[in-house]
Parts: sequence; C-alpha cells; structure tokens
Amino acid sequence: MQNVWELQQKILNLKSEKDIAILAHSYQAEEIQEIADVVGDSFKLSQEAAKLPQKTVIMAGVKFMAETCKILSPEKTVILAHPQAGCPMAEQFEADEIEYLKSQHPNAVTVCYINTTIEIKAVCDVCVTSSSAVSVCKKLPEKEIIFIPDCNLGAFVAKSLPEKHLIMLQGGCPIHACVSVQDTLTSKEMFPGAKLAVHPECQPEICDLADYVGSTSGIINYCKASNDKEFIIGTEISIAEHLQYACPDKKFHILSKKLICPNMKITTLPDIYNALTGAGGLTLETPPELLSKAYKCIDKMLKLG
Ligand code: 13P
Ligand code: SF4
Repeated sequence: MQNVWELQQKILNLKSEKDIAILAHSYQAEEIQEIADVVGDSFKLSQEAAKLPQKTVIMAGVKFMAETCKILSPEKTVILAHPQAGCPMAEQFEADEIEYLKSQHPNAVTVCYINTTIEIKAVCDVCVTSSSAVSVCKKLPEKEIIFIPDCNLGAFVAKSLPEKHLIMLQGGCPIHACVSVQDTLTSKEMFPGAKLAVHPECQPEICDLADYVGSTSGIINYCKASNDKEFIIGTEISIAEHLQYACPDKKFHILSKKLICPNMKITTLPDIYNALTGAGGLTLETPPELLSKAYKCIDKMLKLG
C-alpha cells in the first residue's frame, strides 16, 4: 500500500503531464487541498477555474459545484472526482415545483442559492451565494422574492431586509440544520471567551447568538484577521481543522459533532487519481441550452455585484 505522500506525488506528476487542474472546496481534506490548484468556496472555485489555462478541471467537491464550473466554462471538460458526491440541499426540489411556485406568485423574482442543480438555476432569475445573498436581494427592484432552497439563509436575508417579502420552501442543509440552539448554548458555556462564527445555513436562532455569520471563506477570513484567540466554528468540521492548522497560535472548537457532511467527505485521493487516469470520475455532459439558461441566472448575480 502506498502512503499519502507517494500518492500525492503521483497525482502532481500526472496532472502536470496531462495539463489538468484540480479544484478543492474548503470542506475537502487537507491532503486533497495540498495537491489542488485552487482551494475555496463554491463560487470562487468556478470563477478561478474560468481563468485557468487548463482545458480540463477536476472538482473535489459536490456535483452542483462541478455544474457551476461548467456553466462558467462551457468549453472546458469538467470532471466530478467522485461520481456520487451530491449535495442533498441542492437536490431537494425539482424545476417543475419551482415553475409551479412562480405561477402562484407572478410578481415575484425568483432567487436561488448557488447550492442548487443546474436545472433549478435554469428556471430562476438570479443566483446568490451565502456571502452575496443580502446585497443581491437588496438591489432587486421587486419587493416579493421567491427564495430557494434554504429557508435558514432565506430567514437571514429576510431579517437583514425587512422591506422585502420572502416566499420560501422548507428546504435547507440537513447538516447545518441539525445543530440546535441547546448545542450552541452548551458550546458557549464550555468556551466562554470564544467568538462564535457560523454559516447562515444554521438556524436563525443560532445566527442570532453568533459574533459572525458568513460563508466558509467569510468564516476563514474573519478568524484569521481577528485579534481574538479562541473560536467556536459553526459549519462543517473541516473548517475548524483547517483553521487550526493555519493558525496554530489560536484555538478552534467545533460547534457540534453533528457538523459532518458525508458528501464532502466521500472524495479521497485515490478518487482524484482515478479521475486523472480516466478510470473514475464523472465527466459532465450538459446540453448547451441548459448551460446558457443557467448562465443567465449567475450572470445577473455578477451584474448586481
Ligand atoms: P460555500 O458556498 O460557503 O462554500 O458553502 C458551500 C456549502 O456547501 C455550505 O454548506
Ligand atoms: Fe450540501 Fe450541506 Fe453538505 Fe454543504 S454541508 S454540501 S449544503 S449537504
């Protein structure tokens, strides 16, 4: 059996030989991030991938991230490293359910979180990330907003923008939604001096208790820039682990042991190796019409800034 370092060297050699770039989401394991060309949140990965010279990219993340990458770089070959890595929240609703909701609210604009399938993006007006959701919704002229799929992120937007009326479905991230207010109060009691940083996919009552609410990149930047020395991290546990590695002089606690996303943990170094050799991975075959419909939704977010 080869060790991690040997496999990493094989991957590095193969990706340079084949001129393939590797994208790793911030929730991926350290050993995967070490061999990646880009590490970041879901939208950053797609934006950076579009600027890369490589014609083929491998996504170490979940399917909607590979799709977003394909939407922004339709000319590239995009391979999802583990074919079964999906995001349960992204796949919660079908496009026809959203079409029905739209027909019930003809004056509303339809906003989807980036954690959605390409089919959902294709029927929505504008896409948002967890960091852009409030600013994009604020700039929309419509008062009525159909906001899908995450009702926790929606509640965070609604609280920030009382002038808007949000219509939501009961969707969300099963991992972040599992954390309870009691878990949060217990953590705060255990680590009284620590700052609490949470993802807006957590319940609104938990966001209310936090010192900082933001995307995975937002949480990382907040903790790195802060003069504080102790933090409780309310998102997938990998972020606390990466932060501990990056900032050895600070202390990071996880908000709850429930914050483990099995879909983000499914990808391994051997999967990436197999995707590089062609023995594994899932190459996205997306109809151009679907790509251009979904692009409009992302482009509107970019235009709104
Ligand atoms: P980011 O867009 O902040 O990377 O979040 C992705 C995700 O899956 C959060 O659970
Ligand atoms: Fe999806 Fe939640 Fe996992 Fe993020 S943590 S990929 S939103 S299931």
